[in-house]
Amino acid sequence: MHIDVLERYWLIAVGVTLGTFTAALLAGIFIFGLRTPSPVGRIDPTMIDQTEFAETGLRDMGNNRYEVYMLAQMWSFRPSEITVPAGAEVTFFVTSQDISHGFMVEDHDINVMLLPGQIARATTFFDEPGTYHIICHEYCGPGHHNMYATIIVEPATTADADTTK
Ligand code: CUA
Repeated sequence: MHIDVLERYWLIAVGVTLGTFTAALLAGIFIFGLRTPSPVGRIDPTMIDQTEFAETGLRDMGNNRYEVYMLAQMWSFRPSEITVPAGAEVTFFVTSQDISHGFMVEDHDINVMLLPGQIARATTFFDEPGTYHIICHEYCGPGHHNMYATIIVEPATTADADTTK
């Protein structure tokens, strides 16, 4: 079969490109452990007070690790503000109690969609002191643009540093 030389180059270029993408995908999964965000549990959004989300807020797990249980609703997050020391590893457990919302943490690698009753889990590190916002980035009605929460990262104190030993 005759293949024109230019066409041959294009076929090679396409093959190399596909091979590179496939290798990147496999390396991401098997070497770097990348996973698509997926729900880690379900609750009945009409019975929040009988779930672990009845008490929202920050939980200190020791060694500068924290868990945050957070609820999204039209048009706010609960709690609306949390404070952690610099260097904290924070795992968020978030769900919505009414409609679909978004959950994006400014300057950090968290970007998930919140669906009523589905629990989303995401972990990140807050290394740099400062103020960061959690933003709802799924349109959820007339108050959507006002739907955010705040994370305050305080400079680590000696006491915090000691807990990392
Ligand atoms: Cu909640 Cu937009």
